[in-house]
Amino acid sequence: MAVAASPEGMPLARLSQTRTLSAVRTWLYALAALVVLMVAVGGATRLTGSGLSITEWKPVTGAIPPLTEQAWMAEFEKYRQISQYELVNKGMTLSEFKVIYGWEWGHRQLGRLLGLVFFLPLVWFWARGIVRGRLALTLLAIGALGGLQAAVGWIMVASGLEPGMTAVAPIKLTLHLTIASIILACLVWVAAGLKERSDSLREMSIGSRAPRVLAALILLQIALGGLVAGSKAGLTYNTWPLMDGALVPSASALFVVRPWIENFVDNVVLVQFNHRMVAYAVVAFALWHAWSLSRTEAASQAARRARALAGLTVAQMALGIVTLLLAVPLWAGLAHQVFAMAVLAMAVAHARLSRSSQASKEKGGLQEAAPFSAV
Ligand code: HEM
Repeated sequence: MAVAASPEGMPLARLSQTRTLSAVRTWLYALAALVVLMVAVGGATRLTGSGLSITEWKPVTGAIPPLTEQAWMAEFEKYRQISQYELVNKGMTLSEFKVIYGWEWGHRQLGRLLGLVFFLPLVWFWARGIVRGRLALTLLAIGALGGLQAAVGWIMVASGLEPGMTAVAPIKLTLHLTIASIILACLVWVAAGLKERSDSLREMSIGSRAPRVLAALILLQIALGGLVAGSKAGLTYNTWPLMDGALVPSASALFVVRPWIENFVDNVVLVQFNHRMVAYAVVAFALWHAWSLSRTEAASQAARRARALAGLTVAQMALGIVTLLLAVPLWAGLAHQVFAMAVLAMAVAHARLSRSSQASKEKGGLQEAAPFSAV
């Protein structure tokens, strides 16, 4: 029986499936871009000291900012009650307050937008049977992670509103940044997994766990970076490669706090040292991975991606060093944070594509692939 085909010779049913697949993928990548934007605005909120300017959590009604002078005065009055105002910003004018309020409101508003851009298309794709099975469950789990992230965001802000506190708790900031990174990683993983099987079949299987290990190392490094940012450890030891005159500071400086475990969060020396060491590990691993793939399958897509990824990690390390040497100016702190998201996204896409090429080889080809349920 004849099968209807497009001018390029592709069966029409398959062509429409390919288009739908590409629509879902585009939606997921758009969500990933919005997550990166939100991380950037969150970073600017932190670096401009704006994070505690809204002292309440109103997920729905908070979408409308103060619209009258009286409403602004009421918000300002609430801010004047907290320790950060008293100890850091005493004497701040209303117009200065409006600026810090704007950053925090913008960050929260982006969260609301992200929720809508996630759920409305999801319902549409689901109702039409485009998204179903394991993929649908995975997307729901990512949505739940988004809800958790909003709650952690508030728990983090609440930690900075405690009497005597002038900033949020570093560990909670780290958790907030890490969950954002996990959401980004999940979105990119699923989107890259929806790449046409025919594309990934052209790739060679790289048959190793290295890409996933690299992505995990980068995620760990992002969490350690969150601790550096949260404890303002970037304002100390602004030299490189030496730290306090040595490659490795003395054990007494690294473990000055008792009990020893608390140094990992509360001691700026160990916090910064860990971030430096894991950076070297990330870069060394990425270079080794690119080198070993280039040796065995130089012309493959995987080797090309691995080389690009190694370049990105080196650039990110250089940006981190500049950020440290300049004692965290706004532009460098922001660039370092946003670039970390790009490195993570690239590492996850590389890991996913390398895995799917392996999987499709194992399965024996395109015919057996089920794109909409493949996660
Ligand atoms: C692959 C390597 C690296 C990655 C993925 C990475 C990632 C990150 C991330 C995600 C943050 C948190 C940013 C924020 O929340 O605002 C951060 C902070 C920081 N990183 Fe890195 N980093 C890397 C290498 C380095 C290196 C080599 C240095 C310096 C030797 C460095 C210095 C800093 C400093 C000073 C901060 C604090 C910035 C602030 O207070 O806003 N980083 N890093």
